[in-house]
Amino acid sequence: PDLRARAVVDLDVPGPVISRHLYGHFAEHLGRCIYGGFYVGEDSSIPHERGIRLDVVEALKGIGIPNLRWPGGCFADEYHWRDGIGPKQSRPRMVNTHWGDVVENNHFGTHEFMDLCEMLGADAYVSGNVGSGSVQEMSDWVEYLTRDGDSPMASLRRENGRDEPWKVPFWGIGNEAWGCGGNFTAPQFASEARRYATFCRDHGDNKLYRIAAGASDDDVTWTTALMEALSCLGCQRDPKNIFQAISFHYYTLAGTWEHKGSATSFSTEDYYATMSKAQDIERIISAHARIMDAYDPGRKVGLVLDEWGTWWDVEEGTNPGFLYQQNTVRDALVAAVHFDAFHRNADRLVMANIAQTVNVLQAMLLTDAETGALVLTPTYHVFEMNRGHHDATSLAVHVLDAPDTREADGRSLQVVSASASTTGSAALLSLSNLDAEASLTIEVDLRGRTVSSATARVLTGDSAAAHNTAEAPDAVAPIALDTELESGTLRVTLPAHSFATVSLELA
Ligand code: AHR
Repeated sequence: PDLRARAVVDLDVPGPVISRHLYGHFAEHLGRCIYGGFYVGEDSSIPHERGIRLDVVEALKGIGIPNLRWPGGCFADEYHWRDGIGPKQSRPRMVNTHWGDVVENNHFGTHEFMDLCEMLGADAYVSGNVGSGSVQEMSDWVEYLTRDGDSPMASLRRENGRDEPWKVPFWGIGNEAWGCGGNFTAPQFASEARRYATFCRDHGDNKLYRIAAGASDDDVTWTTALMEALSCLGCQRDPKNIFQAISFHYYTLAGTWEHKGSATSFSTEDYYATMSKAQDIERIISAHARIMDAYDPGRKVGLVLDEWGTWWDVEEGTNPGFLYQQNTVRDALVAAVHFDAFHRNADRLVMANIAQTVNVLQAMLLTDAETGALVLTPTYHVFEMNRGHHDATSLAVHVLDAPDTREADGRSLQVVSASASTTGSAALLSLSNLDAEASLTIEVDLRGRTVSSATARVLTGDSAAAHNTAEAPDAVAPIALDTELESGTLRVTLPAHSFATVSLELA
């Protein structure tokens, strides 16, 4: 017998707007994310434009990629942007000490990144180097990218073939400053962030949204120190004059950092532990938001989760420094759970970037190292199925009569995860059944507006470990799901370990 649950959605009670930037991305110079993932170089036999893979661009346009964070991660704090401009053959090489200790030839630099963003139709989120850079270097990079007219950096950009300045809306001040970004203490970094942000200027009509690197997980000392830095006596009090947002990172692991476990071979216990860790994101967002509310009740300062996703042991035979992992139905459900929490917290959480888009950690896309074949992962499909939430108005989903919670990791797990949004005469409902074995029939009472039709799709696989490969690219792909709609009540049955979206037409 399957499990049963009931839910209520008030279609006429609007919540906060879900920024499309909650569906943002992250691409680091790490393993095969940039080289072999996004960029194959101009001599490749893989179809490309100026070295950028066309199939990757098409796939990401298919999920409406809103922004792309680059060049790191830890790499950002050892990246010197001047090494990545000018003729490729004269660009200096460097060692990527964090990721595989490999030599980086700098063939993918500022112009290539901005070219990629233009091809994707995505906003650029550039992560600046605080750890081993200087205020001057960062300030010059902003000028190089965004200044029009006659200035030293604008002229240098023109010498390198780009006349018009680019639009760069998002600017990161450092990354993981508590660790690879320089091993700062929170108060030390907070004053550095203020100093760096001051010299990241708005040139012309390019208005930077400056994001100061913040906490790991729920370490609110960082959020406190950064909020304190925005409110100190003697400073310009309006935060928009310093930095506009604070970031944090949260990765989902079933085990420990030493024993993360396999991406594809895991027990039911590991599966539930993963789901429970994923659900923890809600508590962590709330922990940061509570601190921010105390300093900024008007919610002017944004919270940005600029790295999130699953982190497993690398696939056998691959470079341990390249963080290449497979991606299963379990990963897809981790993404679905995160998005539900993002939608509920969209009044403070303004951006999120999954780590990472291609070939690294919880990727949307995997490319074969030998043949170059492209595979869409189960996580990709969650982004695609949830696309209707971009910039929509969130709606609260009240889950009632849910099945008993499962115990995982000494904590309880909600078996049903759900969220909803509306735009004009449409609404989108996202529903996950996290139970590893049982199907779940859910009845949703749709109140406040008349619903004229409901169509649904579901994503699952033979097991929670099901995944896609070049040989079986559609082992996990969305298919149609039956719905019953009667007098404003929707009934759907979700298979075990599955994610579904229901599109509603409102009269
Ligand atoms: O995403 C991989 C790494 O994880 C990033 O470089 C770093 O910021 C984090 O520790």
